[in-house]
Amino acid sequence: MTALLEIKGVMVHFGGLTALKDVNLAVSAGEVLSVIGPNGAGKTTLFNVITGRVRPSLGSVVFRGQAIQREAAFRIARMGIVRTFQKTEVFGALSLVEGVLAGALARGDPDPETRAREALESVGLQEKAHLRADQLPYGDQRLLEIAQALAAMPQVLLLDEPASGMNHQESAHIVRLIGQLRTKGFAIVLVEHNMHVVMTISDRVMVLNYGETIAEGRPAEVRADPRVIEAYLGVQKTDARAG
Ligand SMILES: Nc1ncnc2c1ncn2[C@@H]1O[C@H](COP(=O)(O)OP(=O)(O)OP(=O)(O)O)[C@@H](O)[C@H]1O
Ligand SMILES: [Mg+2]
Repeated sequence: MTALLEIKGVMVHFGGLTALKDVNLAVSAGEVLSVIGPNGAGKTTLFNVITGRVRPSLGSVVFRGQAIQREAAFRIARMGIVRTFQKTEVFGALSLVEGVLAGALARGDPDPETRAREALESVGLQEKAHLRADQLPYGDQRLLEIAQALAAMPQVLLLDEPASGMNHQESAHIVRLIGQLRTKGFAIVLVEHNMHVVMTISDRVMVLNYGETIAEGRPAEVRADPRVIEAYLGVQKTDARAG
């Protein structure tokens, strides 16, 4: 299977700090790749590189065979790589439909309203479409962010801690949703600290520690890897809001 998105030998420095060191990954349509690791490991930086917000000093990002590491962020989004953010970023004062419309408009969609409604439907928020984003409970706001991303009709979806702060029921919904998106053929890269979510939904898991890949494989292999247990799983932070 040819990968839709490939990262090859990516290196990122912030002053004296090496945030990513020779990182490689590949993800195909219909696949969920999770990237896990301790705080500060470089997971969000990896998303920033893929989406054109951070330029790697070495290495390449290849989307459908084309090197894109020098492209502007808005062009990368238009090509079909869209992300959500670790910290919730919804358009508070807008109705759900209006907020999601922004995603469709950014793509220059000929029928943005339909696209927005479909995107809300795919995350299960269609009945709340008339509400303002800031009237939603936190878990729904995280779903709304995914809807905003979907409205841009991506092929690759990068999700930065979508289940953070969610209760058990909400994170179970996220697992179902990601499964549906995989079935629809999206290539999904998931950054997540909730190990139940990661181990349930991922086809493959890669583990970053201080910017370096220390393990990669199927969820069960990675979970049993002594280096991963030592660097991360054994000392995993508890997410206070998860309850
Ligand atoms: N724009 C930046 N300028 C300087 N340093 C940065 C910048 N962005 C990230 N860093 C540093 O790079 C390292 C990796 O950060 P990053 O946010 O990618 O980690 P993370 O794996 O997403 O962590 P978390 O699980 O806490 O979200 C950290 O040491 C961070 O302080
Ligand atoms: Mg992060």
